[in-house]
Amino acid sequence: MRVTGTGHASMRIDTPAGSILCDPWVNPAYFASWFPFPDNSRLDWDTLGDVDYLYVSHLHRDHFDAAHLRRYVSKKATVLLPAFPTSEMEDELRELGFTKFLKAPNEEVVELDGGLKVMIQALTSPTDGPIGDSSLWVEYDGVRLLNQNDARPTDLSLFAELGHVHAHMLQFSGAIWYPMVYELPQAAKTAFGKQKRDRQFDRTWRYIDDLKADHVFPIAGPPCFLDDALWQFNDIHGDEGNIFPDQSVFLAEYAKVGGTNAVVLLPGSVAEITTGTCETTHPVPVAEFFANKVAHLEEMRERKRPIIEAEKASWRHPEIDVLKEMQRRIEPLLDESIYIAKGVGGPVRFDLVGYDGESVESIVVDFPGKQVRPYADEKVRYRFRTERALIEHLLHIGEVDWVNSLFLSCRFSAARIGQYNEFVYSFFKCLSEERLQYSEGWYDEHERAVDAEDITIGDWVVQRRCPHLKADLSRFGVVEGDQLTCQLHGWRFDLSSGRCLTSVGHKIRAHRVDEQSPAPAGESLS
Ligand code: FES
Repeated sequence: MRVTGTGHASMRIDTPAGSILCDPWVNPAYFASWFPFPDNSRLDWDTLGDVDYLYVSHLHRDHFDAAHLRRYVSKKATVLLPAFPTSEMEDELRELGFTKFLKAPNEEVVELDGGLKVMIQALTSPTDGPIGDSSLWVEYDGVRLLNQNDARPTDLSLFAELGHVHAHMLQFSGAIWYPMVYELPQAAKTAFGKQKRDRQFDRTWRYIDDLKADHVFPIAGPPCFLDDALWQFNDIHGDEGNIFPDQSVFLAEYAKVGGTNAVVLLPGSVAEITTGTCETTHPVPVAEFFANKVAHLEEMRERKRPIIEAEKASWRHPEIDVLKEMQRRIEPLLDESIYIAKGVGGPVRFDLVGYDGESVESIVVDFPGKQVRPYADEKVRYRFRTERALIEHLLHIGEVDWVNSLFLSCRFSAARIGQYNEFVYSFFKCLSEERLQYSEGWYDEHERAVDAEDITIGDWVVQRRCPHLKADLSRFGVVEGDQLTCQLHGWRFDLSSGRCLTSVGHKIRAHRVDEQSPAPAGESLS
């Protein structure tokens, strides 16, 4: 089996029974904030795109690059489609000209022509990607590969049961706006960023240990930030709180925990994988490339500047009455929202900075009041500050997912009172009837589900499943004193009160081993 690195989370897998192109991403994403790192725009995409199968793990724009798919990927390719709850991915791909789809039954091995086998695991909670993320398992002639991508299954046993895996591709770097956009003192940002960076690596080690593959390929990040306004997010400034470590940092950290089987693929690198070997060739030596990272980024920044400027020029739509249009789009959804609106529990304020860079219009999305209205000098739990032109653009294009556009762009600042509230982001990624209904249904089901089983960790008896996304706490739970940390996403819980310390709601059931079990508390969103 041959794997060609094509940048970020993308790769091309070649076997005698067919080729699969995964997640090709070249054009900037999220308001021209993210670019693939290292640069992959000079690869021979005409040849790379001439494949038998296309696999897109999910709809995040650093995995689903519509312009690139339209221009460069053969429309004769069969799309290996994850079993997502909504038809959005298929609809978007059909619009781009793809007509052949293999709707892979979730978590079932499918045998393709010539003995090529694939299995896709689709994750479908409202917090998995833009309503769905997935991993692809591939087997040919006894060689097995797992492209876990940035999916976060509770464990990898499903794949391990299919036989020893030879190549494991997985995310190790950050892909979010936290904590950089928060209006916090720099020292606090650095401390939170460092915690986050450590947690990302801990999670990666856990997954690697789960599968024990012969070779581990760090993929799916980091992106690079080429706009001057975002340049500081590149991990080139010696900031220990930067959440975007690159592959060379991965190698160093992995070595510290005893890892010796990592393989870094640059765009254009080729790995020939057998059941016993992995031989790689690179366009330039990997260590040399990373030693010259700053020069690479600076050259790329100059080359891509006109693209960024052209994108920026397209965002303004002064003819749009933002308040009125937000009312028209959002109020019907507020009316329908039960669980998410209750979970947000208060007003969320958007401060929109005008074209002059100073004037500000404040709009409130009032979840309890079910309306969008001008800010009324009230206390809000969440406040976002961004350029008015970005919101105009989102309204102009009818964007249904503001996470997969505005928030991932990092072109905003945020402040909040109290804990992180995941329902805020769940709502703003569900600005369509279809998405909102699905998410409301999912929360409804999970709120009603009773997690009856308890386990013992140290001095504590706790429910087996994490209140966040149901990770098995006998594997992911770490107790220190009265606090439990679930290492899947790093959420923390105070066991003596059951309170989640990371997000609103999500109470955990727990008591000391030598105490009586309390009556089931149930989960409260308020
Ligand atoms: S499942 Fe996300 S922190 Fe436990």
